[in-house]
Amino acid sequence: MSNSTPQPALEIIGRHSLNGEVKISGAKNSALAIMAGTLLCGDDCRLSNMPCLADINTMGQVLASLGVKIKKTGSTWEFNPRDLKAVKAPYDLVSQLRASFFVIGPILTRLGVAQVPLPGGCAIGSRPVELHVRGLQAMGANVIIEHGVVNASVKGSSGRLKGANIFLDYPSVGATETIIMAATLAEGETVIKNAAKEPEIVDLANFCNSMGAKITGAGTDTIIIQGVSRLHSTDYEIIPDRIEAGTFLVAGAITHSEILVTSINYDHLIPAIAKLEEIGCRVLREDETTLRTIPGALKASDVETLPHPGFPTDMQAQFMALLTISEGNSLVTETVFENRLRHVAELKRLGANIKVKGNSALVCGVPMLSGAPVMATDLRASAALVIAGLAADGKTIVQGLQHLDRGYENLEQKLQGLGAKIQRLPHYQP
Ligand code: EPU
Repeated sequence: MSNSTPQPALEIIGRHSLNGEVKISGAKNSALAIMAGTLLCGDDCRLSNMPCLADINTMGQVLASLGVKIKKTGSTWEFNPRDLKAVKAPYDLVSQLRASFFVIGPILTRLGVAQVPLPGGCAIGSRPVELHVRGLQAMGANVIIEHGVVNASVKGSSGRLKGANIFLDYPSVGATETIIMAATLAEGETVIKNAAKEPEIVDLANFCNSMGAKITGAGTDTIIIQGVSRLHSTDYEIIPDRIEAGTFLVAGAITHSEILVTSINYDHLIPAIAKLEEIGCRVLREDETTLRTIPGALKASDVETLPHPGFPTDMQAQFMALLTISEGNSLVTETVFENRLRHVAELKRLGANIKVKGNSALVCGVPMLSGAPVMATDLRASAALVIAGLAADGKTIVQGLQHLDRGYENLEQKLQGLGAKIQRLPHYQP
Protein backbone atom coordinates (compact mmCIF):
# COMPACT_ATOMS: atom_id res chain seq x y z
CA MET A 1 0.00 0.00 0.00
CA SER A 2 1.42 3.41 -1.00
CA ASN A 3 1.70 6.36 1.41
CA SER A 4 0.77 8.97 -1.22
CA THR A 5 -2.33 11.13 -0.82
CA PRO A 6 -5.44 9.97 -2.70
CA GLN A 7 -6.03 11.99 -5.89
CA PRO A 8 -8.94 12.16 -8.33
CA ALA A 9 -8.34 9.98 -11.38
CA LEU A 10 -10.21 8.67 -14.39
CA GLU A 11 -10.67 4.94 -14.77
CA ILE A 12 -11.18 3.81 -18.36
CA ILE A 13 -11.96 0.30 -19.53
CA GLY A 14 -10.86 0.35 -23.15
CA ARG A 15 -11.85 -1.28 -26.42
CA HIS A 16 -15.56 -0.43 -26.27
CA SER A 17 -16.96 1.23 -29.33
CA LEU A 18 -18.75 4.55 -29.02
CA ASN A 19 -22.05 5.65 -30.51
CA GLY A 20 -24.52 8.50 -30.31
CA GLU A 21 -23.82 12.21 -30.30
CA VAL A 22 -21.84 14.71 -28.30
CA LYS A 23 -22.38 18.46 -28.10
CA ILE A 24 -19.33 20.71 -28.16
CA SER A 25 -19.00 23.56 -25.63
CA GLY A 26 -17.82 27.14 -26.14
CA ALA A 27 -14.16 27.70 -26.97
CA LYS A 28 -11.93 28.07 -23.91
CA ASN A 29 -9.27 30.14 -25.64
CA SER A 30 -11.81 32.50 -27.24
CA ALA A 31 -13.65 32.93 -23.98
CA LEU A 32 -10.43 33.75 -22.09
CA ALA A 33 -9.39 36.51 -24.51
CA ILE A 34 -12.93 37.88 -24.79
CA MET A 35 -13.32 37.97 -21.00
CA ALA A 36 -10.22 40.20 -20.93
CA GLY A 37 -11.85 42.20 -23.74
CA THR A 38 -14.89 42.99 -21.58
CA LEU A 39 -12.56 45.36 -19.67
CA LEU A 40 -12.46 47.60 -22.75
CA CYS A 41 -16.06 48.61 -22.35
CA GLY A 42 -17.49 50.92 -19.71
CA ASP A 43 -20.90 49.19 -19.95
CA ASP A 44 -22.27 45.71 -19.31
CA CYS A 45 -21.28 42.86 -21.61
CA ARG A 46 -23.11 39.57 -21.84
CA LEU A 47 -21.29 36.46 -23.08
CA SER A 48 -23.19 33.28 -23.91
CA ASN A 49 -21.91 29.76 -24.68
CA MET A 50 -19.26 30.15 -21.97
CA PRO A 51 -17.66 26.79 -21.13
CA CYS A 52 -17.71 25.66 -17.51
CA LEU A 53 -13.96 25.22 -16.82
CA ALA A 54 -11.39 25.86 -14.12
CA ASP A 55 -9.47 28.31 -16.39
CA ILE A 56 -12.60 30.33 -17.09
CA ASN A 57 -13.34 30.56 -13.36
CA THR A 58 -9.77 31.72 -12.68
CA MET A 59 -10.09 34.43 -15.34
CA GLY A 60 -13.39 35.43 -13.67
CA GLN A 61 -11.47 35.82 -10.39
CA VAL A 62 -8.84 37.99 -12.12
CA LEU A 63 -11.56 40.31 -13.47
CA ALA A 64 -13.34 40.39 -10.09
CA SER A 65 -10.05 41.36 -8.41
CA LEU A 66 -9.89 44.36 -10.77
CA GLY A 67 -13.36 45.54 -9.72
CA VAL A 68 -15.57 43.85 -12.37
CA LYS A 69 -18.93 42.55 -11.13
CA ILE A 70 -19.85 39.20 -12.65
CA LYS A 71 -23.18 37.40 -12.70
CA LYS A 72 -23.43 33.84 -14.04
CA THR A 73 -26.62 32.20 -15.28
CA GLY A 74 -25.78 28.79 -16.69
CA SER A 75 -23.45 29.32 -19.62
CA THR A 76 -24.22 33.04 -19.83
CA TRP A 77 -22.02 35.45 -17.92
CA GLU A 78 -22.70 39.15 -17.40
CA PHE A 79 -19.81 41.52 -16.78
CA ASN A 80 -20.22 44.94 -15.27
CA PRO A 81 -16.85 46.70 -15.58
CA ARG A 82 -18.13 50.18 -14.54
CA ASP A 83 -16.12 50.04 -11.31
CA LEU A 84 -12.88 48.91 -12.99
CA LYS A 85 -10.37 50.58 -10.73
CA ALA A 86 -7.46 48.30 -9.96
CA VAL A 87 -4.59 48.59 -12.40
CA LYS A 88 -2.70 45.68 -10.85
CA ALA A 89 -3.53 42.05 -11.56
CA PRO A 90 -2.75 39.72 -8.62
CA TYR A 91 0.28 37.42 -8.97
CA ASP A 92 -1.34 34.37 -7.37
CA LEU A 93 -4.00 34.31 -10.10
CA VAL A 94 -1.78 35.30 -13.06
CA SER A 95 0.70 32.57 -12.12
CA GLN A 96 -2.12 29.98 -12.24
CA LEU A 97 -3.37 31.10 -15.65
CA ARG A 98 -1.05 32.52 -18.31
CA ALA A 99 -3.99 33.89 -20.30
CA SER A 100 -4.72 36.33 -17.50
CA PHE A 101 -1.71 38.32 -18.79
CA PHE A 102 -4.10 39.33 -21.63
CA VAL A 103 -5.72 41.89 -19.29
CA ILE A 104 -2.67 44.14 -19.79
CA GLY A 105 -3.89 45.57 -23.13
CA PRO A 106 -7.42 46.49 -22.04
CA ILE A 107 -6.39 47.91 -18.64
CA LEU A 108 -3.62 50.02 -20.17
CA THR A 109 -5.72 51.40 -22.98
CA ARG A 110 -8.63 52.22 -20.65
CA LEU A 111 -6.89 53.46 -17.53
CA GLY A 112 -3.51 54.57 -18.89
CA VAL A 113 -1.61 52.37 -16.41
CA ALA A 114 -1.39 48.61 -15.99
CA GLN A 115 0.70 46.35 -13.77
CA VAL A 116 0.60 42.68 -14.59
CA PRO A 117 3.00 40.06 -13.22
CA LEU A 118 5.01 38.10 -15.78
CA PRO A 119 3.08 34.85 -16.14
CA GLY A 120 6.17 32.64 -16.18
CA GLY A 121 6.55 29.42 -18.13
CA CYS A 122 4.43 26.32 -17.97
CA ALA A 123 4.70 22.59 -18.65
CA ILE A 124 4.81 23.03 -22.46
CA GLY A 125 7.41 25.78 -22.75
CA SER A 126 8.95 28.98 -21.45
CA ARG A 127 6.27 31.12 -23.11
CA PRO A 128 7.78 34.62 -23.04
CA VAL A 129 5.67 37.76 -23.59
CA GLU A 130 8.16 40.09 -25.31
CA LEU A 131 5.99 40.33 -28.45
CA HIS A 132 3.07 41.62 -26.37
CA VAL A 133 5.36 44.15 -24.69
CA ARG A 134 6.97 45.34 -27.95
CA GLY A 135 3.52 45.88 -29.46
CA LEU A 136 2.45 48.05 -26.51
CA GLN A 137 5.73 50.00 -26.69
CA ALA A 138 5.19 50.64 -30.40
CA MET A 139 1.85 52.23 -29.44
CA GLY A 140 3.67 54.62 -27.12
CA ALA A 141 3.54 52.73 -23.83
CA ASN A 142 6.35 53.14 -21.38
CA VAL A 143 7.15 49.65 -20.10
CA ILE A 144 9.39 48.81 -17.15
CA ILE A 145 9.76 45.21 -16.07
CA GLU A 146 10.97 44.90 -12.49
CA HIS A 147 10.47 42.53 -9.59
CA GLY A 148 8.63 40.17 -11.95
CA VAL A 149 5.96 42.70 -12.87
CA VAL A 150 5.31 44.39 -16.22
CA ASN A 151 4.56 48.04 -15.40
CA ALA A 152 3.08 49.80 -18.42
CA SER A 153 1.91 53.40 -18.64
CA VAL A 154 0.85 55.73 -21.42
CA LYS A 155 3.22 58.59 -22.20
CA GLY A 156 1.90 62.04 -23.08
CA SER A 157 -0.98 64.24 -21.97
CA SER A 158 -3.82 62.60 -23.96
CA GLY A 159 -3.57 59.47 -21.81
CA ARG A 160 -4.26 57.38 -24.92
CA LEU A 161 -2.09 54.91 -26.75
CA LYS A 162 -1.26 55.85 -30.35
CA GLY A 163 -1.92 53.72 -33.41
CA ALA A 164 1.22 52.13 -34.87
CA ASN A 165 2.52 49.79 -37.57
CA ILE A 166 3.52 46.58 -35.85
CA PHE A 167 5.26 43.62 -37.44
CA LEU A 168 5.19 40.47 -35.31
CA ASP A 169 8.35 38.36 -35.59
CA TYR A 170 6.10 35.36 -35.03
CA PRO A 171 2.30 35.17 -35.43
CA SER A 172 1.70 34.82 -31.69
CA VAL A 173 -1.94 34.32 -30.75
CA GLY A 174 -1.62 36.09 -27.41
CA ALA A 175 0.43 39.02 -28.73
CA THR A 176 -2.06 39.56 -31.58
CA GLU A 177 -4.88 39.58 -29.01
CA THR A 178 -3.07 42.01 -26.69
CA ILE A 179 -2.38 44.42 -29.54
CA ILE A 180 -5.92 44.21 -30.96
CA MET A 181 -7.40 45.04 -27.55
CA ALA A 182 -4.95 47.87 -26.84
CA ALA A 183 -5.41 49.37 -30.32
CA THR A 184 -9.20 49.34 -30.11
CA LEU A 185 -9.23 52.45 -27.89
CA ALA A 186 -5.96 53.99 -29.17
CA GLU A 187 -5.77 57.25 -31.12
CA GLY A 188 -5.54 56.55 -34.86
CA GLU A 189 -4.84 53.45 -36.91
CA THR A 190 -2.89 50.34 -35.91
CA VAL A 191 -1.77 47.80 -38.51
CA ILE A 192 -0.58 44.39 -37.32
CA LYS A 193 1.46 42.51 -39.93
CA ASN A 194 2.21 38.79 -39.62
CA ALA A 195 -0.75 38.60 -37.23
CA ALA A 196 -2.01 35.25 -35.92
CA LYS A 197 -4.97 33.94 -37.96
CA GLU A 198 -6.55 31.54 -35.47
CA PRO A 199 -10.38 31.44 -35.24
CA GLU A 200 -10.06 32.79 -31.68
CA ILE A 201 -8.53 35.99 -33.12
CA VAL A 202 -11.52 36.40 -35.42
CA ASP A 203 -13.85 35.78 -32.48
CA LEU A 204 -12.13 38.45 -30.38
CA ALA A 205 -12.28 40.95 -33.26
CA ASN A 206 -15.98 40.17 -33.87
CA PHE A 207 -16.66 40.65 -30.16
CA CYS A 208 -14.83 44.00 -30.12
CA ASN A 209 -16.66 45.09 -33.29
CA SER A 210 -19.99 44.18 -31.65
CA MET A 211 -19.09 46.84 -29.02
CA GLY A 212 -18.35 49.44 -31.72
CA ALA A 213 -14.67 48.80 -32.42
CA LYS A 214 -13.40 49.18 -36.00
CA ILE A 215 -11.32 46.11 -36.78
CA THR A 216 -10.86 44.62 -40.25
CA GLY A 217 -8.72 41.79 -41.59
CA ALA A 218 -8.96 39.44 -38.58
CA GLY A 219 -8.31 35.91 -39.87
CA THR A 220 -5.72 37.23 -42.36
CA ASP A 221 -2.12 38.13 -41.63
CA THR A 222 -2.83 41.87 -41.72
CA ILE A 223 -5.24 43.29 -39.17
CA ILE A 224 -6.21 46.98 -39.23
CA ILE A 225 -7.70 48.65 -36.19
CA GLN A 226 -9.08 52.21 -36.31
CA GLY A 227 -9.09 53.39 -32.70
CA VAL A 228 -12.38 54.67 -31.26
CA SER A 229 -12.87 56.73 -28.12
CA ARG A 230 -15.34 54.43 -26.40
CA LEU A 231 -17.20 51.15 -26.78
CA HIS A 232 -20.76 50.20 -25.89
CA SER A 233 -22.41 47.20 -24.25
CA THR A 234 -22.91 43.96 -26.16
CA ASP A 235 -24.44 40.51 -26.10
CA TYR A 236 -22.06 38.04 -27.72
CA GLU A 237 -21.93 34.26 -28.26
CA ILE A 238 -18.56 32.48 -27.99
CA ILE A 239 -17.63 30.18 -30.92
CA PRO A 240 -17.53 26.38 -30.45
CA ASP A 241 -14.31 24.87 -29.15
CA ARG A 242 -12.47 23.45 -32.18
CA ILE A 243 -9.98 21.59 -30.00
CA GLU A 244 -12.68 19.87 -27.95
CA ALA A 245 -14.45 18.97 -31.22
CA GLY A 246 -11.22 17.62 -32.72
CA THR A 247 -10.57 15.60 -29.57
CA PHE A 248 -13.96 13.84 -29.91
CA LEU A 249 -13.36 13.19 -33.62
CA VAL A 250 -10.10 11.45 -32.68
CA ALA A 251 -11.96 9.50 -29.96
CA GLY A 252 -14.35 8.28 -32.67
CA ALA A 253 -11.46 7.34 -34.97
CA ILE A 254 -9.38 5.49 -32.36
CA THR A 255 -12.36 3.38 -31.18
CA HIS A 256 -13.43 2.66 -34.79
CA SER A 257 -16.81 4.20 -34.01
CA GLU A 258 -19.45 6.16 -35.84
CA ILE A 259 -20.31 9.17 -33.67
CA LEU A 260 -21.95 12.54 -34.27
CA VAL A 261 -20.12 15.65 -33.06
CA THR A 262 -22.56 18.55 -32.91
CA SER A 263 -22.43 22.35 -32.41
CA ILE A 264 -19.19 22.65 -34.36
CA ASN A 265 -17.84 25.14 -36.89
CA TYR A 266 -16.66 23.12 -39.90
CA ASP A 267 -14.19 25.70 -41.21
CA HIS A 268 -12.33 25.77 -37.89
CA LEU A 269 -11.81 21.99 -38.08
CA ILE A 270 -10.46 21.68 -41.61
CA PRO A 271 -6.80 20.97 -40.60
CA ALA A 272 -7.87 18.24 -38.13
CA ILE A 273 -10.42 16.70 -40.52
CA ALA A 274 -7.90 16.61 -43.39
CA LYS A 275 -5.42 14.76 -41.18
CA LEU A 276 -8.06 12.29 -39.92
CA GLU A 277 -9.02 11.46 -43.50
CA GLU A 278 -5.36 10.95 -44.39
CA ILE A 279 -5.07 8.52 -41.45
CA GLY A 280 -8.13 6.62 -42.65
CA CYS A 281 -11.13 7.87 -40.68
CA ARG A 282 -13.72 9.58 -42.86
CA VAL A 283 -15.48 12.62 -41.45
CA LEU A 284 -18.83 13.41 -43.05
CA ARG A 285 -20.47 16.79 -42.85
CA GLU A 286 -24.05 15.98 -41.80
CA ASP A 287 -25.11 19.63 -41.76
CA GLU A 288 -23.64 23.06 -40.98
CA THR A 289 -22.88 22.20 -37.37
CA THR A 290 -22.64 18.39 -37.23
CA LEU A 291 -19.95 15.91 -38.21
CA ARG A 292 -20.12 12.10 -38.39
CA THR A 293 -17.05 9.88 -38.05
CA ILE A 294 -16.95 6.83 -40.33
CA PRO A 295 -14.34 4.37 -39.08
CA GLY A 296 -11.69 2.93 -41.35
CA ALA A 297 -8.35 1.13 -41.20
CA LEU A 298 -5.85 3.49 -39.55
CA LYS A 299 -2.56 4.14 -41.32
CA ALA A 300 0.50 6.23 -40.50
CA SER A 301 0.72 9.91 -41.40
CA ASP A 302 3.21 12.65 -40.58
CA VAL A 303 2.07 15.60 -38.48
CA GLU A 304 3.79 18.97 -38.12
CA THR A 305 2.28 21.63 -35.91
CA LEU A 306 2.11 25.16 -37.27
CA PRO A 307 0.27 28.41 -36.63
CA HIS A 308 -3.28 28.41 -38.10
CA PRO A 309 -4.31 27.36 -40.73
CA GLY A 310 -1.58 24.74 -40.22
CA PHE A 311 -2.11 21.71 -38.01
CA PRO A 312 -2.87 22.95 -34.45
CA THR A 313 -0.38 22.29 -31.67
CA ASP A 314 -3.36 21.82 -29.34
CA MET A 315 -4.29 18.65 -31.31
CA GLN A 316 -0.79 17.16 -31.55
CA ALA A 317 -0.97 14.94 -28.45
CA GLN A 318 -4.41 13.53 -29.33
CA PHE A 319 -3.30 12.69 -32.88
CA MET A 320 -0.15 11.08 -31.53
CA ALA A 321 -2.39 8.80 -29.43
CA LEU A 322 -4.25 7.85 -32.61
CA LEU A 323 -1.04 7.23 -34.55
CA THR A 324 0.24 4.81 -31.89
CA ILE A 325 -2.19 2.19 -33.28
CA SER A 326 -2.09 3.30 -36.94
CA GLU A 327 -0.19 0.94 -39.22
CA GLY A 328 3.28 2.15 -40.21
CA ASN A 329 5.66 4.88 -39.07
CA SER A 330 4.53 8.47 -38.45
CA LEU A 331 6.77 11.44 -37.76
CA VAL A 332 5.19 13.96 -35.39
CA THR A 333 7.00 17.32 -35.21
CA GLU A 334 6.13 20.04 -32.72
CA THR A 335 7.25 23.47 -33.94
CA VAL A 336 5.10 25.86 -31.86
CA PHE A 337 6.16 25.00 -28.29
CA GLU A 338 9.58 23.75 -27.24
CA ASN A 339 8.48 21.17 -24.68
CA ARG A 340 5.24 19.64 -25.87
CA LEU A 341 6.13 15.96 -26.17
CA ARG A 342 5.92 14.99 -22.52
CA HIS A 343 2.96 12.69 -23.20
CA VAL A 344 5.32 10.37 -25.11
CA ALA A 345 6.65 8.72 -21.94
CA GLU A 346 3.09 8.12 -20.72
CA LEU A 347 1.89 6.75 -24.08
CA LYS A 348 4.85 4.37 -23.94
CA ARG A 349 3.53 3.10 -20.61
CA LEU A 350 0.44 2.06 -22.56
CA GLY A 351 2.60 0.06 -24.97
CA ALA A 352 3.18 2.67 -27.69
CA ASN A 353 6.41 2.45 -29.68
CA ILE A 354 7.75 6.02 -29.91
CA LYS A 355 11.25 7.46 -30.22
CA VAL A 356 11.91 11.15 -29.59
CA LYS A 357 14.69 13.21 -31.11
CA GLY A 358 14.60 16.94 -30.44
CA ASN A 359 11.11 18.20 -31.18
CA SER A 360 10.13 15.19 -33.30
CA ALA A 361 8.69 11.84 -32.34
CA LEU A 362 8.79 8.76 -34.55
CA VAL A 363 5.64 6.79 -33.80
CA CYS A 364 5.74 3.17 -34.98
CA GLY A 365 2.20 1.83 -34.98
CA VAL A 366 1.50 -1.22 -32.78
CA PRO A 367 -1.56 -3.49 -33.16
CA MET A 368 -2.90 -2.67 -29.70
CA LEU A 369 -2.25 -0.60 -26.56
CA SER A 370 -2.53 -2.10 -23.09
CA GLY A 371 -4.10 -0.26 -20.17
CA ALA A 372 -1.90 1.06 -17.33
CA PRO A 373 -1.76 3.88 -14.77
CA VAL A 374 -0.55 7.11 -16.42
CA MET A 375 0.06 10.70 -15.34
CA ALA A 376 -1.17 13.70 -17.32
CA THR A 377 1.52 16.34 -17.81
CA ASP A 378 -0.56 19.15 -19.36
CA LEU A 379 -4.05 19.83 -20.67
CA ARG A 380 -3.87 18.31 -24.16
CA ALA A 381 -1.63 15.48 -22.94
CA SER A 382 -4.42 14.48 -20.55
CA ALA A 383 -6.91 14.32 -23.42
CA ALA A 384 -4.44 12.19 -25.39
CA LEU A 385 -4.12 9.73 -22.51
CA VAL A 386 -7.90 9.45 -22.16
CA ILE A 387 -8.19 8.80 -25.90
CA ALA A 388 -5.43 6.19 -25.74
CA GLY A 389 -7.17 4.59 -22.75
CA LEU A 390 -10.37 4.25 -24.80
CA ALA A 391 -8.46 2.08 -27.28
CA ALA A 392 -6.24 0.21 -24.82
CA ASP A 393 -6.89 -3.32 -23.70
CA GLY A 394 -8.02 -3.46 -20.06
CA LYS A 395 -7.94 -0.70 -17.47
CA THR A 396 -6.19 2.69 -17.79
CA ILE A 397 -6.03 5.09 -14.87
CA VAL A 398 -5.35 8.73 -15.79
CA GLN A 399 -4.05 10.87 -12.92
CA GLY A 400 -3.24 14.58 -12.87
CA LEU A 401 -6.84 15.63 -13.62
CA GLN A 402 -6.21 19.26 -12.62
CA HIS A 403 -4.89 19.70 -16.17
CA LEU A 404 -7.91 18.11 -17.85
CA ASP A 405 -10.38 20.13 -15.78
CA ARG A 406 -8.78 23.38 -16.98
CA GLY A 407 -9.93 22.86 -20.52
CA TYR A 408 -12.51 20.09 -21.10
CA GLU A 409 -16.06 20.62 -19.87
CA ASN A 410 -17.53 17.39 -18.44
CA LEU A 411 -15.24 15.19 -20.55
CA GLU A 412 -16.10 11.97 -18.77
CA GLN A 413 -19.86 12.67 -18.78
CA LYS A 414 -19.71 13.44 -22.50
CA LEU A 415 -17.77 10.22 -23.16
CA GLN A 416 -20.18 8.25 -20.94
CA GLY A 417 -23.01 9.66 -23.09
CA LEU A 418 -21.26 8.04 -26.07
CA GLY A 419 -21.13 4.70 -24.24
CA ALA A 420 -17.49 4.83 -23.08
CA LYS A 421 -16.63 2.88 -19.94
CA ILE A 422 -15.10 5.78 -18.02
CA GLN A 423 -15.61 7.00 -14.49
CA ARG A 424 -14.04 9.51 -12.14
CA LEU A 425 -12.53 8.04 -9.01
CA PRO A 426 -12.58 10.95 -6.53
CA HIS A 427 -10.03 9.39 -4.16
CA TYR A 428 -7.71 7.18 -6.21
CA GLN A 429 -4.85 5.82 -4.15
CA PRO A 430 -1.87 5.41 -6.48
N1 EPU B 1 6.03 33.42 -28.08
C1 EPU B 1 7.18 34.16 -27.90
N2 EPU B 1 7.06 35.44 -27.48
C2 EPU B 1 5.85 36.02 -27.22
C3 EPU B 1 4.69 35.26 -27.41
C4 EPU B 1 4.80 33.95 -27.84
O1 EPU B 1 8.29 33.67 -28.14
O2 EPU B 1 5.83 37.20 -26.84
C5 EPU B 1 6.16 32.02 -28.51
C6 EPU B 1 5.64 31.05 -27.43
O3 EPU B 1 6.61 30.82 -26.44
C7 EPU B 1 5.31 29.83 -28.24
C8 EPU B 1 4.84 30.42 -29.57
O4 EPU B 1 5.32 31.76 -29.61
O5 EPU B 1 6.44 29.04 -28.42
C9 EPU B 1 3.33 30.44 -29.74
O6 EPU B 1 2.73 31.16 -28.68
P1 EPU B 1 1.39 31.99 -28.83
O7 EPU B 1 1.59 33.33 -28.26
O8 EPU B 1 0.88 31.87 -30.24
O9 EPU B 1 0.41 31.15 -27.89
P2 EPU B 1 -0.39 31.67 -26.62
O10 EPU B 1 -1.16 32.87 -26.94
O11 EPU B 1 0.50 31.67 -25.44
C10 EPU B 1 -2.51 30.30 -27.30
C11 EPU B 1 -3.39 29.27 -26.65
C12 EPU B 1 -2.65 27.96 -26.56
C13 EPU B 1 -2.27 27.52 -27.96
C14 EPU B 1 -1.42 28.62 -28.64
C15 EPU B 1 -1.07 28.31 -30.08
C16 EPU B 1 -4.72 30.66 -25.18
C17 EPU B 1 -5.11 31.00 -23.80
N3 EPU B 1 -3.76 29.74 -25.32
O12 EPU B 1 -1.38 30.44 -26.45
O13 EPU B 1 -3.56 27.01 -26.01
O14 EPU B 1 -1.52 26.34 -27.91
O15 EPU B 1 -2.16 29.86 -28.62
O16 EPU B 1 -2.20 28.06 -30.82
O17 EPU B 1 -5.29 31.16 -26.12
C18 EPU B 1 -4.21 25.07 -24.85
O18 EPU B 1 -5.39 25.44 -24.98
O19 EPU B 1 -3.90 23.92 -24.47
C19 EPU B 1 -3.13 26.01 -25.19
C20 EPU B 1 -1.88 25.84 -24.76
